[in-house]
Amino acid sequence: MDVETMIATFEAERERALVLARGAATPEELEAARVAVLGRRSPFAEAQRRLGALQPEDRRRAGKVANEAREAIVAALATRASELEAAAEEQLVAADRIDLTLPGRRPPIGSLHPLTIIEDEVVEAFVAMGFRVVEGPEVEDDWHNFEALNIPADHPARTMKDSLYVDVPGQPGLLLRTETSAAQIRTMESQGPPVYIVSPGRVFRRETPDATHLPVFHQVECLVVDEGITFADLKGTLEALVRSLFGPSRRVRLGPAYFPFVEPGAEVGVSCFRCDGAGCRVCGNGWIELLGAGMVHPQVLENCGYDSERLTGFAFGMGIERVAMLRWGIPDMRLLIEGDVRFLEQFGGAA
Ligand code: PHE
Repeated sequence: MDVETMIATFEAERERALVLARGAATPEELEAARVAVLGRRSPFAEAQRRLGALQPEDRRRAGKVANEAREAIVAALATRASELEAAAEEQLVAADRIDLTLPGRRPPIGSLHPLTIIEDEVVEAFVAMGFRVVEGPEVEDDWHNFEALNIPADHPARTMKDSLYVDVPGQPGLLLRTETSAAQIRTMESQGPPVYIVSPGRVFRRETPDATHLPVFHQVECLVVDEGITFADLKGTLEALVRSLFGPSRRVRLGPAYFPFVEPGAEVGVSCFRCDGAGCRVCGNGWIELLGAGMVHPQVLENCGYDSERLTGFAFGMGIERVAMLRWGIPDMRLLIEGDVRFLEQFGGAA
């Protein structure tokens, strides 16, 4: 191989190398290009091995061309290598880029249970009037649930048929409270007059669930004891409550009713919020019977050590389920305890 051919080879290989380097699309292809142009069996290496056979003058000239060509090739390979690396990096970044403008995943927001909504409203109405909220135990004894409330031993409410008794050895007569009225007794036992309390809570009765009955339901009890409390105070308080629950134009009517712990006792009706007393499908005759009430029986005051000559009081108790059913037109009480979210989320109580 003469010197001119050798120089031509170096220059040709240099051109070929630049093309191969630029065309390599992956690090593997680039490595293959390097082996092809600079490897031991490449035309470049072949020509280089023959440099030694040249005359010194020719060897210097051809050697110079060879060195420049090699440098150019190495530089081209390096440039391409870093280009490929940058591209790979970019791809990686693009692959796990987070788009901060995408809307987030919203966790489903719960809603307040309709019974909670009503209970809160009732309690709030009373707190606004200056009442205190008290809660009694759900497991009660005979005294607080019956005896002190003037419910005589032969009263039908005391039988196994109506109440749910709890079997605790050594503590006979424990039962799940049948009405929140038990809270009246506990309050009067623990404090002197005056009393202005409201007591919400669960109550229990031996009942087969149907559209209007549940064995576990909720009541709110209200008790006032002070000097000079009259039936008019009871009616005024009921009117305030009913208007806050069912709207400002509701009227209240009282009819006679018997509860052992009040005298006189009254059944409280409210003018229908749908037909305003004219008579409709919800109420029938224009009035909805809503709760039981009355003037606290003097015997109940005496049972708690209150002077029934000096003090009078009123009490009333209402079912929360019933209020919820009336308010929202819920046809079956059992819907309230089934826990179906599609039902529960309709009442708009933000949790
Ligand atoms: N506790 C009675 C009931 O469960 C309601 C009531 C409360 C009546 C207070 C009069 C006074 O039906």
